[in-house]
Amino acid sequence: MKTVLVTGGAGFIGSHTCINLIENNYRLIVVDSNINSSPKSIERIRQLFKNKSIDLSDLLNFFHGDIRDKNFLNQIFANAKKDKSPIEAVLHFAGLKSVEDSFKDPMLYWENNVVGSLTLFEVMQSFNCNTVVFSSSATVYGITSQKSVDESSVINPNNPYGQTKAAVENLLEGIFKSYSDKWRIANLRYFNPIGAHESGLIGEDPNDKPNNLFPIICRVAGGTYKNLKIFGRDWPTIDGTGVRDYIHVMDLADSHRCALDFLLNNQPQFLNLNIGTGKGTSVLELIQIFSDVNECDISYEFCERRPGDLPVVIANNRKAIELLNWCPKKNLYDMCLDGWNWQKLNPNGYK
Ligand code: NAD
Ligand code: UFG
Repeated sequence: MKTVLVTGGAGFIGSHTCINLIENNYRLIVVDSNINSSPKSIERIRQLFKNKSIDLSDLLNFFHGDIRDKNFLNQIFANAKKDKSPIEAVLHFAGLKSVEDSFKDPMLYWENNVVGSLTLFEVMQSFNCNTVVFSSSATVYGITSQKSVDESSVINPNNPYGQTKAAVENLLEGIFKSYSDKWRIANLRYFNPIGAHESGLIGEDPNDKPNNLFPIICRVAGGTYKNLKIFGRDWPTIDGTGVRDYIHVMDLADSHRCALDFLLNNQPQFLNLNIGTGKGTSVLELIQIFSDVNECDISYEFCERRPGDLPVVIANNRKAIELLNWCPKKNLYDMCLDGWNWQKLNPNGYK
């Protein structure tokens, strides 16, 4: 059984990926500062497996700490080595992710996302652990008129958050160029992950108020917010509202397991991969599906466009599908059903 380190594993995407990895026979060491998550997500993962009579005490170990703390990371790698289960790969989710906040405090974003990643890669290198799957984002692409973006599209992020993601991708590319006989690297560029684990035990629970569309729709459905403000009704799209490529978080989780398997079973290499469904959905279409599936009304009003928004962002996902033996399986119906199930069962998240 291989041991992998999951940074940011208590967060939204990390926690869902932990479930998939455990189901696929990986032993996990999770580190998280909980700056944007609750350690209770890890307890919920234990509960989920306990319900199936599986004890995770040896398979899932959580350590509270910050990836910028080199001593902390050194200790984690050294202890795993001492226990005869050295860390063979890292899934690197830890990072701050708000575009809005990154404009307010760019230095914090560079420090946390870039310096944190550099510290992690240095420690990995010193322990001869050279396999990493990095959480990048579709926001690294510049404004494009293409119908969907492929991995060769121009990298030109229009916000500090995206710039930190592009910088980490560059850093990894540089590492690969210098040690191309050793490193196995996959930058997964996520499009718009939504939904939750079908159990309703794990879901998205940001510490601050959400900025993204789907958690806001859930809060309107649950009565926490009065209505949804739709940013713009005059975009050049099917109905004037923004079009995005929504992907179920469990499909996204599965792409990590597939990328990890692929890297571990192939020659050292450097990959950039779009992770989306390849299908576009407008804000109004998403509201309609959510209302139909969950039999509820989502009241909304139209507002000004949000600065920095793009009309259409859709993945060309052919490369990931061809290379990884991965394919998104869940549709918008599943995303809306599972996301609302989580919100209904946990109106205050993990609190
Ligand atoms: P999240 O905030 O729920 O999870 C990130 C986790 O990292 C949190 O648990 C947080 O506490 C932890 N963390 C942050 N900085 C840390 C540090 N210095 N040391 C240790 N832990 C730290 O976010 P998410 O939605 O699960 O996203 C995971 C990753 O995917 C992030 O890197 C994010 O930028 C990227 N991403 C997310 C989306 C999205 O829409 N959710 C899209 C593209 C990319
Ligand atoms: N939207 C609204 N009202 C809201 C929130 C969003 O109308 O209250 C609209 C946006 O204008 C956009 C769509 O809903 O048209 C989706 O917006 P999100 O904020 O949910 O997602 P974005 O595509 O803007 O950004 C997300 C993540 C980024 C990531 C990017 C990758 O927030 O971190 O996807 O494509 F980089």
